[in-house]
Amino acid sequence: MMSQTQETDILVIGSGAAGLTLALRVADFCKVTVLSKSDLREGATFYAQGGIAAVLDETDSIESHINDTLNAGVGLCNPQVVEHIVSRGSEVVTWLLQQGVPFTTKTSREENNNLKSINHEELGSLHLTQEGGHSHRRIIHATDATGKAVFETLREQAINHPSIELIEECMAVDLITLQLSNGKRKCSGLYVFNKRTRNVEIIAAKFVALATGGASKTYLYTSNPDGASGDGIAMAWRAGCRIANMEFNQFHPTCLYHPHAKSFLISEALRGEGAMLELSDGTRFMSKFDKRGELAPRDIVARAIDHEMKRLGCDCVYLNITHREPSFVTGHFPNIYERCLKFGIDITKDRIPVVPAAHYTCGGVLINEKGETDIDNLYAIGETSCSGLHGANRMASNSLLECFVVAFGAASSISERINSVGFSESLPVWDESKVTNSDDEVLVSHNWDEIRRLMWNFVGIVRSTKRLEVADRRIKALREEIRDYYRKNRVTNDNLELRNIALVAELIITCALQRNESRGLHYIVDYPKTQEEIKDTLLVPPSFFQT
Ligand code: FAD
Ligand code: SIN
Repeated sequence: MMSQTQETDILVIGSGAAGLTLALRVADFCKVTVLSKSDLREGATFYAQGGIAAVLDETDSIESHINDTLNAGVGLCNPQVVEHIVSRGSEVVTWLLQQGVPFTTKTSREENNNLKSINHEELGSLHLTQEGGHSHRRIIHATDATGKAVFETLREQAINHPSIELIEECMAVDLITLQLSNGKRKCSGLYVFNKRTRNVEIIAAKFVALATGGASKTYLYTSNPDGASGDGIAMAWRAGCRIANMEFNQFHPTCLYHPHAKSFLISEALRGEGAMLELSDGTRFMSKFDKRGELAPRDIVARAIDHEMKRLGCDCVYLNITHREPSFVTGHFPNIYERCLKFGIDITKDRIPVVPAAHYTCGGVLINEKGETDIDNLYAIGETSCSGLHGANRMASNSLLECFVVAFGAASSISERINSVGFSESLPVWDESKVTNSDDEVLVSHNWDEIRRLMWNFVGIVRSTKRLEVADRRIKALREEIRDYYRKNRVTNDNLELRNIALVAELIITCALQRNESRGLHYIVDYPKTQEEIKDTLLVPPSFFQT
């Protein structure tokens, strides 16, 4: 349990792939504290299905993975960052195997259709699957529950490391930053809401890393777990970091459409293994939209489904893998098979009803390849950040890869600097003198629902200037109400998340209004063409100080 004020060398906010990797990479030379606002596993990482993109096959090449990433990102990726991250794929997979991640191997596939995940040292022995936008089979996976295998392995390593402390149910509220004599700011710690004691505490740290995941909960329908409220992006903005490319929120084409199936994803790997998208009468439609059919990049497939659903006024389309051998389907996709069966859908015999849902935040806190932000001693890694890898549309399975590579970079940056950075002397206390306990929680729940519906209806897969302007006016009014509520009431998990999704929603709308073209995930009917000029959308917060 946390004391009122504690000190740690490195404070990592988030226990997903990015946070746990950074913790493990620095723990041999300093003390690390990892926070999670709920259960440790409640991040997107645990739910990741398809896998991790890496070039391991001799017929594949780094150039090909780079080109696919650049094509999917529609001109907006940073080519140096793409090369930096993509070329480290085999280093990442080697490290994960050393940690003990039980990836699926070719042998288990050939010898036994009922795929079994086993430990293996040989990169060449790993089974590779296929996903949209990739021109080769290059997705390393642990059947269809890759994230669970990665998370459980890294968590086990972290639990057993004497220098790592893992703390659950503690929610970061705001970064503590101090002004330096050169005009820049440095991060020195964090205000943390301890959900068990209901107190706000201070953690002083030499370095703080935001590894808080994405912001897809800003939308009504999402594949993401409940905590994906963009807290890291919101905290970084308030502290003075620039935020980039928030208009590019990715919609995954295929989430299960069922009244009781909250947030369940049907992996793109099904399409990689031959699943077809169909209308209710069995007609396939993807070839009308892209020659790559079902394996076109996600922005194209999600928009095609949205188009067909609106054209026909139907509630969903269907994913059909019934032509594959039942043992192949259950062997490759045991988790999806079991989950669908619980809803009465036998995917070996029945088509799967699917709809697009908000899935991934391509924009975020602006960072370099080492995860360094605009604020000294503050890092951002994983989905909360914008490294330049994804551009206007992330390619499948590049996200986990980015989490690992940038965490490696952040760890080496910290190792070079650890001996020259100390604790700050006095950190400003948390002032609760003007707040009381709320007796009007309905204001929080109402605004939460309103924002997410507003974003879904007005800032979704297909946008228009008129709808974005309505959303902009409404979000500004809502933010004013939320700020007023926050000033008067004690913090809770819900009002903190509401404050963050409201801010992130405004950042998404602002970015979307600034981009007068359609590119990748940002499709706007008033500007259907992609411009020749390529530029990031960079938002500069009021507190940003340019040296
Ligand atoms: P997360 O794993 O989301 O972890 C965020 C952490 O931050 C959590 O521990 C959370 O509790 C903590 N946190 C957040 N806010 C606070 C706060 N205020 N205070 C304290 N703690 C906080 N990508 C791929 O590359 N391959 C895939 O196969 C794949 N499949 C996916 C399937 C699903 C269903 C989903 C939702 C995503 C998938 N993705 C996939 C995307 C990928 O999983 C995520 O981008 C990646 O896992 C993000 O990792 P992360 O470490 O940045 O954040
Ligand atoms: C999936 O398995 O379809 C998700 C992969 C990803 O988001 O990268």
